[in-house]
Amino acid sequence: MILAVSMFLGAANILSAQNLLPIPPALTGKIFDLKVQSGKKIFYDTTHTPTSGINGVWLGLTIIVNKDDSIILNVKNELTENTTMHWHGLHVAPKNDGGPHQIIEPGKTWSPTFKLRNNAGTFWYHPHGAGITEQQVSNGIAGMFIIRDTVQEIKLNLPRTYGVDDIPLIVQTKAFDNLKQLAIATNLDTAIFVNGVMKASLKTHAQVIRFRLLNGSSLRTFNFGFSNNQNFYQIATDGGLLESPITMNRLRLSPGERAEILVNYTKMEGTDVSLLSFSSELEDGIYGSKNIGKGKDTIPDYKANFLNGDDFNLLKIHVDYPFPNAVKNIPTSLTPITPYKIADATKNRTIIFDTIRLLAFDPPNRAEGPFGMNNKSFDIDSINEKINLNTTEIWTLINKTLVAHPFHIHDVQFNVIDKKGVPQKAWKDVVLVMPDDTVKFITRFADFADNMTPYMYHCHLLHHEDDGMMGSFLVRDTTVGIQQNIKENGVTIYPNPFTDELNINTTQNQKYSVAIYNLLGQKIYASSSTLNIKLETLNFPKGLYILELKSNQNITYKRIIKQ
Ligand code: C2O
Ligand code: CU
Repeated sequence: MILAVSMFLGAANILSAQNLLPIPPALTGKIFDLKVQSGKKIFYDTTHTPTSGINGVWLGLTIIVNKDDSIILNVKNELTENTTMHWHGLHVAPKNDGGPHQIIEPGKTWSPTFKLRNNAGTFWYHPHGAGITEQQVSNGIAGMFIIRDTVQEIKLNLPRTYGVDDIPLIVQTKAFDNLKQLAIATNLDTAIFVNGVMKASLKTHAQVIRFRLLNGSSLRTFNFGFSNNQNFYQIATDGGLLESPITMNRLRLSPGERAEILVNYTKMEGTDVSLLSFSSELEDGIYGSKNIGKGKDTIPDYKANFLNGDDFNLLKIHVDYPFPNAVKNIPTSLTPITPYKIADATKNRTIIFDTIRLLAFDPPNRAEGPFGMNNKSFDIDSINEKINLNTTEIWTLINKTLVAHPFHIHDVQFNVIDKKGVPQKAWKDVVLVMPDDTVKFITRFADFADNMTPYMYHCHLLHHEDDGMMGSFLVRDTTVGIQQNIKENGVTIYPNPFTDELNINTTQNQKYSVAIYNLLGQKIYASSSTLNIKLETLNFPKGLYILELKSNQNITYKRIIKQ
């Protein structure tokens, strides 16, 4: 179907010198085999540019799943360097999150498995290695992750035929160097890509079209709107549907943010219109606006980038005949939202965005960074925040720098608290914090606790993230009344409680024998080893057990909990 449409458009030659908008192929089901690969593409003349992608050499496939399904993602790293794969916006356990701690070495496969607990919405996936996120995402590794809902969302009269009236738009600017190779750590991101092509064009139909917008850029914020200034209707934010469509003619998305919009083309058959970024209207201080650094501190090459502060084209659209049975109306209501309640919050936390001074005599550049959070730079071995499971918290983000930073937190969706103190009826996982501004949000940390593996929060400007504008948090289950992560005599036992795996790390190079007893005193497991021991497939019933650890010097007993 999509192929046929594309061929027809090519023949008609309506949009010459344009590239037809590719629709990333959809992957559906419950088991996903993803290969992170590298290869080459030609973007300019005959020059080959090394690129990467997922199941291809440039960008990734769109994963389409149903809420409440349990899925397995087999992520194979076919690169020659480490990678990771993060499910941006998904509520999953830390070990499945794909942050900097879940490294996939070259040739290895990482297979997280989890249930889809999020509401229907538009999410995405991308690498998240410490210090190498910008490199790998810019090189092409990113894809959309759509959750559908066969109970709620399905009842709404919304366009939902992928690639036909439900269209993914992954919008990114990228930088190329003089040799036409992809470049990072530069402010000359002048190449505009939609779904991986430049000068993209789309033939669509005189009906209601749903666009799923993802800003997958490293730095740039877009201010979406149409060349004819027509209204459109936002139906979803980062974490899913709104209560009712919001009418607008501009929509700002910073890196990492998503939105779903409906555009009513029913009366526009035969017309041409363009999707633009009205960047001249962006507030100063935002990457992509005219001025940054408040005229004080500057960013190299910022002024030289002609996209900054200018309006530019993202996608040319030609409206053709409507399909039969097309959606013709904008719905009046969507899905009810119950935001978190201020009265339920039992903890406040403050994150200050500031400049890290590398040397005492080095004056900080409050526009260029490097930036930190609470005066710290990311350290993979330390934990910045410790959160108790099942706690509702209010976070206050204070930006003391001269640029706007899109703050993203893993694990949760939050409600931004407006200036009057009211939690907004919208689910977000990224929020743009303007210079000298403060943003508060409320969220709840539920379902997943892990005493060893943290989640991340960070600036989603990938250059800032890699530069250290990131922190980690643990969600701990304090209701378990026994010692967590037993650590004594050079022996660490974790996680505790465990599910089906238990690790015993020892520092002494001697032989240990391990046994597990149930409360009746029956020995149900035994093994022996030196140094690090991993007990796998411990598929016995939930409950309390006793672990016996015997060396030739001593014998210790520990209480462990299977959950
Ligand atoms: Cu989209 Cu922590 O990232
Ligand atoms: Cu930032």
